Amino acid sequence: MADSDDIDRIRSAPDLQALEALRVSTLGKSGSVTARLKSLGKMSPEERSAEAPKIHSLREAVTAALAGRKAELENAELEQKLATERIDLSLPAPQTPEGSVHPVSQVMDELAEIFADLGFSVAEGPEIEEQWYNFTALNMPEFHPARAMQDTFYCRKIGGDPDAEAHVLRTHTSPVQIRAMTSQPPPLRIIAPGRVYRSDSDATHTPMFHQIEGLVIDKGIHLGHLKWTLETFLKAFFERDDVVLRMRPSYFPFTEPSAEVDVGWSMEKGRRVVGGCEGWMEVLGSGMVHPNVIANCGLDPEEWQGFAFGTGVDRLAMLKYGMSDLRAFFDGDLRWLRHYGFRSLDVPTLSGGVGA
Ligand code: DAH
Repeated sequence: MADSDDIDRIRSAPDLQALEALRVSTLGKSGSVTARLKSLGKMSPEERSAEAPKIHSLREAVTAALAGRKAELENAELEQKLATERIDLSLPAPQTPEGSVHPVSQVMDELAEIFADLGFSVAEGPEIEEQWYNFTALNMPEFHPARAMQDTFYCRKIGGDPDAEAHVLRTHTSPVQIRAMTSQPPPLRIIAPGRVYRSDSDATHTPMFHQIEGLVIDKGIHLGHLKWTLETFLKAFFERDDVVLRMRPSYFPFTEPSAEVDVGWSMEKGRRVVGGCEGWMEVLGSGMVHPNVIANCGLDPEEWQGFAFGTGVDRLAMLKYGMSDLRAFFDGDLRWLRHYGFRSLDVPTLSGGVGA
């Protein structure tokens, strides 16, 4: 029979374990309070109306006593811990932070900073892409020979519609042009940095690498806007005013006309650096967005025009910071990262010099 003795025992339980035992022996399945509650069923109505309030109030009193003692014991435990545990604040701080910002991340941050100043926002798209975005909408219908220009990784189809086209690992960032044009109304000014994939591997090619895409869609856009934008961007990126551009006619299915862009280099202290024009090296693909691409996105090419460009972020990093082997970018060799990495608090800003 539970009674005030139980409550006294609960109030003086020495620790949480003893308290738990008391909970079981009162409120547990075969506990004393539970037994009294069960006994109500066997009573006559008169007896029950006399006993029920007593038993219920006993249950409440036991429950309250258990909760109260639990809080007391837990508090006491915490007090004890606080009184005995010591943290030695005089221990020396860890050595200088070891992490560094990878050159690819650094260059992406630099590019975002430069293009934000020109009014471009950053857009994103998926790396596992539908063929419509990666090829078809970019004016490369099925069996178009340009699809073979890139060594595509095709994904295996799992379940779903057997007639649906397999997804691909995006071979370039150009599908983000389509995603931008089909998801927001023009005018548009976006850059899209990100990972791309091709089945290719040597000193200057890795199966995964990084590109950045640029897209402007507006009214009355012409080649002059493209050239000015690229010149302004490359001067800011290489942090030199003597960057010289050369545009060579080229072919991309999604632009017409298309141009490959070279920058001039010169020798400084035995090294080839960007600036001047003793020689040329290719840095970008670009052109005026093909009217078919604009129409594929549901816009009227008579009303809207634009330019686009795309380039390798890793390649820009190599040119600016003087690395020679692309594979080292993805080896995770700490010595390389220490040498070429950037301090995490050195955020690129135009005012401070983007490559600071
Ligand atoms: N997507 C092209 C490639 O990966 C690069 C490119 C060329 C992008 C011209 C463009 C462009 O936007 O206009 O080779």
